[in-house]
Amino acid sequence: MIISVLGGTGDQGLGIVIRFIQAGEKVIIGSRKAKKAEDAVDKVKQLLEKEDIQNLSGMSNEDAANKGDILILTVPLAAQMGTLKSVENFVDGKILIDATVPLDTVIGGSPARYVDLWQGSAAERTAEILTDKNVAVVSAFNNISNSHLMNFNEEIDCDCLVSGDDTESKKIAMDLINKIPGIKCIDCGPLEKARIVEKITPLLIGLNIKYKSHHGGLRITGLKLD
Ligand SMILES: NC(=O)c1ccc[n+]([C@@H]2O[C@H](COP(=O)([O-])OP(=O)(O)OC[C@H]3O[C@@H](n4cnc5c(N)ncnc54)[C@H](OP(=O)(O)O)[C@@H]3O)[C@@H](O)[C@H]2O)c1
Repeated sequence: MIISVLGGTGDQGLGIVIRFIQAGEKVIIGSRKAKKAEDAVDKVKQLLEKEDIQNLSGMSNEDAANKGDILILTVPLAAQMGTLKSVENFVDGKILIDATVPLDTVIGGSPARYVDLWQGSAAERTAEILTDKNVAVVSAFNNISNSHLMNFNEEIDCDCLVSGDDTESKKIAMDLINKIPGIKCIDCGPLEKARIVEKITPLLIGLNIKYKSHHGGLRITGLKLD
């Protein structure tokens, strides 16, 4: 199974790439520019202090989407539509994990505030943009900060709240994400639950600012998970 991280050159994407490489997965970094993706591969090698990482490559978002089995979208809200349109011919039959958070920064505001979207959430907006495609959209990673992901010698002390309408695809995504040490995936139900989950992120960002931390995260207690 190949995981393609679209916008994987950025803060969140690169952290996800590193965590899946550490977990032994095959990963492709996608970018608008293939060269930038290749540079990001070199950066991962430097960070992990490995001269060669066989299961990692970098290419355009289009090629990455074409080659990937599971696609992970890690671009800012402003780039969501354009990125999805650029790869729409390559998503059929695949799972697309959406990490997008609709932060107020998209209109010049605070990262501790969200913007309401007509579709209810960024994940539902992704599903609407790809409505003609046979793709299962799963919302995940929204509440896990890049600081946690990039602290890659440590386990991640956070739960990953996961939403999606297709049960089987959601399970595949959760099984994959659970390979990252420390993370516990929680099935929050249908994709519309992303409306709640995405709004937790600006709360966490605000808490990190208030308490001068980079590692504020979320744990749900009291559930018996399989
Ligand atoms: N950072 C976090 O801690 C965090 C936590 C949870 C969720 N998220 C969410 O994850 C997503 C990515 O966050 P991030 O911090 O990684 O963002 P980022 O670093 O600003 O951008 C990620 C990548 O998106 C592409 N991109 C940026 N602006 C673009 C534009 N105008 N048009 C097309 N592509 C553009 C770039 O890739 P190329 O130039 O290579 O194409 C960039 O490297 C966001 O939706 C964010 O809300 C982030």
